[in-house]
Amino acid sequence: MASRTLICETEPWRDLKAHVEDIKKTHLRDLMSDSERCKSMMLEFDGLLLDYSRQCATQETMEKLFRLAEAAHLKQKINSMYGGEHINSTENRSVLHVALRASKDKVIYSDGKNVVPDVWKVLDKISDFSERVRSGSWAGVTGKPLKDVVAVGIGGSFLGPLFVHTALQTDPEAIQCSKGRQLRFLANADPIDVAKSITGLNPETTLVVVVSKTFTTAETMLNARTLREWISAALGPQAVAKHMVAVSTNLTLVEKFGIDPNNAFAFWDWVGGRYSVCSAVGVLPLSLQYGFSVVEKFLKGASSIDQHFHSAPFEKNIPVLLGLLSVWNVSFLGYPARAILPYSQALEKFAPHIQQVSMESNGKGVSIDGVHLPYEAGEIDFGEPGTNGQHSFYQLIHQGRVIPCDFIGVVKSQQPVYLKGELVSNHDELMSNFFAQPDALAYGKTPEQLLNENVPQHLIPHKTFSGNRPSLSLLLPSLNAYNIGQLLAIYEHRIAVEGFIWGINSFDQWGVELGKSLASQVRKQLNASRIKGEPVEGFNFSTTKMLNKYLEAKSR
Ligand code: F6P
Repeated sequence: MASRTLICETEPWRDLKAHVEDIKKTHLRDLMSDSERCKSMMLEFDGLLLDYSRQCATQETMEKLFRLAEAAHLKQKINSMYGGEHINSTENRSVLHVALRASKDKVIYSDGKNVVPDVWKVLDKISDFSERVRSGSWAGVTGKPLKDVVAVGIGGSFLGPLFVHTALQTDPEAIQCSKGRQLRFLANADPIDVAKSITGLNPETTLVVVVSKTFTTAETMLNARTLREWISAALGPQAVAKHMVAVSTNLTLVEKFGIDPNNAFAFWDWVGGRYSVCSAVGVLPLSLQYGFSVVEKFLKGASSIDQHFHSAPFEKNIPVLLGLLSVWNVSFLGYPARAILPYSQALEKFAPHIQQVSMESNGKGVSIDGVHLPYEAGEIDFGEPGTNGQHSFYQLIHQGRVIPCDFIGVVKSQQPVYLKGELVSNHDELMSNFFAQPDALAYGKTPEQLLNENVPQHLIPHKTFSGNRPSLSLLLPSLNAYNIGQLLAIYEHRIAVEGFIWGINSFDQWGVELGKSLASQVRKQLNASRIKGEPVEGFNFSTTKMLNKYLEAKSR
C-alpha cells in the first residue's frame, strides 16, 4: 500500500546527501572560529540556552534542513498532532500528550470532543486524593497514615515517573514537601525487584498504585498480584480497598482485579505509554510523594515547551532544531547513536527514559504507509550523568566511534557544596567538565600540538584526537519541577520531529509483540512440564536444551 512519496525521494533529501561532501571537507575547529555562525546557532527560550554550534553543520546546512522539513510537511504534521487527528494510524488514535499539561482554558479536540475538561477532572481527583493520603484522612485499614507508596508498572508506566522522581528528589521545595514519605517503584518480573520494592515497608502504612495502560501487561499484573497477596496476608483481603489504587485506561479490568473503580485514575487511548508521564501514570505517584502543587509546576514547564513547539518558527524552535539535527546526524552523516550526558546526578534516570521514548518510537523499518524504508530510521540512545560517564565510555567517544552527544547542564545547583579553601564549588567542578568536553570533542588535538609538547614520537598516534565530533549543549537555569517538565517535553517533541521527517509512525510499538507472545508459549510449557510432567516440545533444539536445563533445577 505504497502511497506517499518517501522523504528520500525528494529533492531536499538529495540536496542534503550531496551537501555531506562539503561538510566532510570542513572541520569543527574551523567552523567554531566563525563567531557569526556560532551566534546564529545559539538560542534562548524561557530560561533555557541551546547551543548547537558544535554540530557538523553550517548555516547552509540548516537552510537545507528547513527545506527538508517543508518537503516532509513537518508543520502540517505538527498541526495534525495538536489538532487531534489520528496520526497514530496503525492504532487509529490521536496523539495528544500535549493535552495532559494544557491549562484549563485550552481547547484540544480528539474525535470532536474537547479533552481538556476530562484531563482536569482526573487532575483534580488526583489533587484531592493525594492530599487526603498525605494528610492521613485517607488512612490504611488499621487507621495508620499511608506514608509509603509502591508504584507497580513497567516501560512507559515506570520509566518517566522514575526519571521525574529521581530528579525531584534533589529539589529543595520537593524535598520539603516529601518529608517522612517514600516512593518506590516495582517494574521487573524478577523476584529480586519485588523484594527490593517492599523490603523494610509495612503493609499497614503502604499504598500500592498499579499503573498499566492496558492492565494486561504480564509483568505488571504478576507484580500487582504479588503485592495484593502481601497486603492481604498481613491485613486481610478487605484491606485491598484502602491499600491499592490503579491508573489505567481499562477500568473494566481494574474492577475485575479487585480494585474499586472509584479508586482508579483514568487516562485515554490518545496517550501513548511512553508519553504518559504527564497523565495519572506519573502525576498520581508523584503527587502522593511531593504534593500536587509541585507536580503542577512540572506540568507547566512541559506546557511552556508545548506552546513553543507549536508556535515558534522552525529556526527558533528548540525541538524542531534538535530533531532536524538528529536526522542530519543519523541519515546523512551516518552516525546512528546519540549519547545523552546530563551533568547532573539528579538526571541519572533521564537517559533510560529517553531510550524508551526514542527507540520505541522511532525504531521502525517501514514508513507510516507500510513501505519498507530504503534508509535507517531511529537512533541508538544511551547515556550516563557526567562526570561518571567520562570515566566509562568517553574514551570511545573521543577516539573511537563518532557519537553525537547531548550535554545537559544546570546553572544553579540544587545542593551546592563549598569546601573551605577550595577555589571552586563542587558544582563548578562538575560544570568545568560540562564546558570542557564539547570543545575537546570538537577541536581534538593534533600531532603538531603534541610535538610542541615534546610528546615522544611513538605516543603521538595514541595521544592524537581527531576532533570534529559533534555535540550540542543545553543549559537549564536550575533543576526544579518546571525545568524538568521543559526538558521532558523538548525530548518528546524532538523525537516526534525525527519521526515526522523519516515518515514513520512514531506512536505505535508493534516490535515489542513477538517477544511477548513467544514468552507466553514458554510460560505455558513451563507450567505443563512442572504440573503434568510433560516433555518440552515445539521449540528448536537450542531452546529445548536450555529449557530442559532450567527445568532440571529444583529451586527457582
Ligand atoms: O513495552 C511495550 C509497552 O506496551 C510499552 O509501550 C508500555 O509503556 C509498556 O509496555 C507498559 O504497558 P502498560 O502500561 O499497558 O502496562
